[in-house]
Amino acid sequence: MTDTDTVRRTRVPNAEPGLNEDEVGSEGSGNGFATLFDAWSGEPTAPNPLRSGLHLDRVPAPCAMVIFGVSGDLTARKLMPALYDLAVNQPLPEGFSVVGVSHRDWSDDDFRARMREAVAASARTPVTEESWELFARGLFYVRGDFADSETYRGLGDRLSIIDRERRVEGNRLFYLATSPNYYLPIIRGLAEGGVSERQANYEEPTEGWHRIVIEKPFGRDLATARSLIAEMATIFSERQIYRIDHYLGKETVQNVLAFRFANILFDPVWNRQYVDNVQITAAESIGVEGRGGYYEDAGALRDMVQSHLLQLLTVVAMEPPAFFNGNAVRDEKVKVLRSIVAPTDDEIATRVVRGQYEAGYGGGHPVEGYREERGVKPNSQTETYVALKLGIDNWRWDGVPFYLRTGKRMPRRVTEIAVEFKRVPHLMFQSVGDLDLTPNVISLRIQPDEGIALRFAAKVPGGRTQLRTVRMDFLYGASFGQSGPDAYERLLLDAMLGDPTLFTRRDEVESAWGLVDPILEGWKDPATSPLRPYEAGTWGPAKADAMIERDGRSWRRP
Ligand code: BG6
Repeated sequence: MTDTDTVRRTRVPNAEPGLNEDEVGSEGSGNGFATLFDAWSGEPTAPNPLRSGLHLDRVPAPCAMVIFGVSGDLTARKLMPALYDLAVNQPLPEGFSVVGVSHRDWSDDDFRARMREAVAASARTPVTEESWELFARGLFYVRGDFADSETYRGLGDRLSIIDRERRVEGNRLFYLATSPNYYLPIIRGLAEGGVSERQANYEEPTEGWHRIVIEKPFGRDLATARSLIAEMATIFSERQIYRIDHYLGKETVQNVLAFRFANILFDPVWNRQYVDNVQITAAESIGVEGRGGYYEDAGALRDMVQSHLLQLLTVVAMEPPAFFNGNAVRDEKVKVLRSIVAPTDDEIATRVVRGQYEAGYGGGHPVEGYREERGVKPNSQTETYVALKLGIDNWRWDGVPFYLRTGKRMPRRVTEIAVEFKRVPHLMFQSVGDLDLTPNVISLRIQPDEGIALRFAAKVPGGRTQLRTVRMDFLYGASFGQSGPDAYERLLLDAMLGDPTLFTRRDEVESAWGLVDPILEGWKDPATSPLRPYEAGTWGPAKADAMIERDGRSWRRP
């Protein structure tokens, strides 16, 4: 299918309900988003076959998306830009509407103006008058306190009007983009106010579907995650709940599955016979960026390891599912998590390192230490860096160490999964040649420079037998001519379509907490695992190097 085909297939000629003739565009096409898409696509040009299929050409049913915490950072930086990009590059359903809810005293117009600024700052697609005007018609605002039943009455009334005027047929997507302490008041408010209903017979809801997307951290340990799961289960069925981990929406993370399970080449060596170790790195150059209040309570283990890093580990280690669907994929991921034995107290001392950045350099400028950041206690014990070694006790991976590390204020932003292979059993060149060899590595680069690299040995040209390690690169940008959609675009669309494959199931959440909980417990005793300072702009505490060097290995410098 070509870009041009996509345009043709998605043109929807109905007038938008609730708009008078003047508001309908001059061609009378009416569906703002289809029109917007056509306008951006311009005249059909010769299709680029490499780009075919890059559009997410699936159109969900009409719906209203209700965002709680709409005045926050997540809505401004991620959600609204993603919705706008979807609207422009990909038709959103006719009548698609957003209702923002927060405590701010805004009108619909204030809300639209703020969202316009946010979209202009962070969307992939430039904002023009025409495109914004079409998008903004579907934005509405409800002011209210999340703990006040009045808020839900007001929201319900607003949604009834939208149902009628924009014909979204009672379909509702709730999005919790608030601090986690509001999750329960909001879901209770939705249920008690009759705004949402528990749809056990999910396939055939009586009046429109109701779904809820909930941001991480889902709980702050196993006990709180379980009680949140139990409470939510009384208000929404599991099929209605979409626990979001935006790493799963990243194109490159999904590509790990394609790489592993759509090629015959790699699986035969993807196991303990050939793999020496796996290193998963998620390094960030930024600090906590004004989120000190949230971060103090979370720390890198909860913020990154419990969710994103363990998700990366599952996609690299899981067995091939029989089908690419929600349960088949998630069943395999859960099996991996259940095969990891949580570290004992002794192991926490030797296999887990936690660090906190001190003043140093970031982007060539002096930067303050974590304890000087706004919202952070001067004697904070919160970790901004974690390195740990895990083992997966199953047939494929027994004995292969998985080294995970993540940190803020590292020298650069890079996320990668590196699979390091064993050396060859006998190197015949040893006796005759000049060798400078490192083992084979397949590195799956999640961001930036998205792609896959293979490191292997090659002969240096010339009469002598000289071998060197070289690199073969696949780069997304070069092969497909453009980068894919943002993770939130993909995941929001999936939630509207009712596809849970890239969202975390309750047993995944519980298993991940089951691994992290003993570490949090162990850390309560500072003697077990003291917090190690590291200078901002470095690769973390020296203790993390010592941890891996003890195994005769070293961290990659990605
Ligand atoms: C979020 C964390 O989930 O992921 C942040 O809360 C972190 O602390 C962010 O900065 C990293 O995401 P990305 O997509 O920039 O790698």
